[in-house]
Amino acid sequence: MSEWPDDYDFETDELCQNVFKPFILNELDLLEAYDGQRPDSITYIFHEHAERVARDVEKTCLHMDLGKTVARNMYWALLPHDCGKRLLPVSLWDQDDKPEGDLKDRRREHTKLGVQIAEKELSDVEHPFKTLMVDIILKHHEQMDGKGYLKLGPEHLSKPVRLACLVEAFDGWSIARPHYGGRDITIPAVLERMRGEKAGFFDKALLDAFAEMKMAEYNRLEGPAP
Ligand SMILES: [Fe+2]
Ligand SMILES: [Fe+2]
Repeated sequence: MSEWPDDYDFETDELCQNVFKPFILNELDLLEAYDGQRPDSITYIFHEHAERVARDVEKTCLHMDLGKTVARNMYWALLPHDCGKRLLPVSLWDQDDKPEGDLKDRRREHTKLGVQIAEKELSDVEHPFKTLMVDIILKHHEQMDGKGYLKLGPEHLSKPVRLACLVEAFDGWSIARPHYGGRDITIPAVLERMRGEKAGFFDKALLDAFAEMKMAEYNRLEGPAP
């Protein structure tokens, strides 16, 4: 078995369909309800971010020729990655200043809280999909330089987790937020930052694959120059 989830198919696997799918859809509904309690002016909407990240991860897997099954399994594994956010006070988010220090750490507790939710709701289930999903929930704010939230180094970060970390970060940096000021958040600009000043955070080969997929998409959307 490779590090990529290729030994079951979420779309046909019985446990995935009967247990994990309802769990994930319910968590997305709860996150949407939580988003509903946040100010109307917000741009970074958690349940929409989850869907975008899952789709981008799926598309990157297809771009890397990992196959449809791996791509779909990864899509489903990414959807609930931020489910723990709903257990934090709503007032923690949507502040105008850049989150740093204690506030940043409190927010990032959503990784551990998400694991608690999954372990509680799915306590009697064992399946490689659950292992993958929980691993991503816990580690999606880690960095390859070992300076992420839990300070886990690359030896603890599987390829699926590494891909989750970079796609998740890309999406966060692509949405305008008050503390970004006038920073360029177009696709090429965010990718350039990730490959430049943030390069130590990410798995280079996976970032290259993601960037290639994303730039092809960007060029298609922009169309040929007039
Ligand atoms: Fe997160
Ligand atoms: Fe996220």
